[in-house]
Amino acid sequence: MMKHLLGIRDLTTADILQLYELADRFYEVLQQPTRKAPALSGKTVALLFFESSTRTKLSFELAAKRLGADVLNFSASGSSLSKGETLLDTALNILAMGVDAFVVRHHGVGTAHFLAAHLPTPVINAGDGTHEHPTQALLDTYTLRKHFGYLEGLTLTIIGDLFHSRVALSHLHIAPKLGLVVRLCAPPTLVPPLWYNLGFPVYHRVEDAIKGANALLVLRMQKERQAHPPIASWEEYARFYQVRPEHLSEGQVLMHPGPINWGVELHPDLIRSGASRILDQVTHGVAIRMAILYALLLQ
Ligand code: CP
Repeated sequence: MMKHLLGIRDLTTADILQLYELADRFYEVLQQPTRKAPALSGKTVALLFFESSTRTKLSFELAAKRLGADVLNFSASGSSLSKGETLLDTALNILAMGVDAFVVRHHGVGTAHFLAAHLPTPVINAGDGTHEHPTQALLDTYTLRKHFGYLEGLTLTIIGDLFHSRVALSHLHIAPKLGLVVRLCAPPTLVPPLWYNLGFPVYHRVEDAIKGANALLVLRMQKERQAHPPIASWEEYARFYQVRPEHLSEGQVLMHPGPINWGVELHPDLIRSGASRILDQVTHGVAIRMAILYALLLQ
């Protein structure tokens, strides 16, 4: 196992399978009444979130606490960043308080890599701009593995705002390592031009992209990253790209990394339907993040 978790690109297949095995163990622990496996007792994990988060931040906090670690929650607003302190000085000062690992979410691509280059402790990328969100791809594929019992040969269709999605890019890195077949689907305005050359088929019609797939990963329209709206209206996007009940066939499962824009990328009737694994993804996120913290801090 590597020292940091900065991107899926850096993980081997063996690393990923080792994390799944650890997550299986921690998933069982989480079913017990105490839900605790205090292997990281005495360790401290700092959460540095410069962008909003519900799932990733809380599940890392819970994962660290379930493992017996202490958690430091840094919030950019109200910090001395507003007085001109740099990012690295901020991290070094937190390190000086006695921290064993950093979990970092930042709008800047490469921020976690920058900190990893200057800090002696493990750094985990919890999302860097439009680059990677490795722990999300790990928990998504873990969810598929738990549902189907295997991954090799499964077809996953990723639909939505590919242009601004760090989740999609992490999936493009993880799929070949696990034998997953990936299809991409978005309006032409939301496909990064180079993605047509990566060897993954790109569809512009939802019906074609979904047909015969085992699973769908529907992505949020990332309005906060879109300086100029890439489509004429959200109504038009929903008309042509919203995933609706009639699109799904028996046995297909539906995932979404969250948060959901209700009524835009996903029909409301699908969100809590039998096909939806969306809340399972969140549950599995705790076990996967326990596995990551354990692997980086104890191995
Ligand atoms: N999927 C995800 O990263 O959700 P949050 O932004 O709430 O952490």
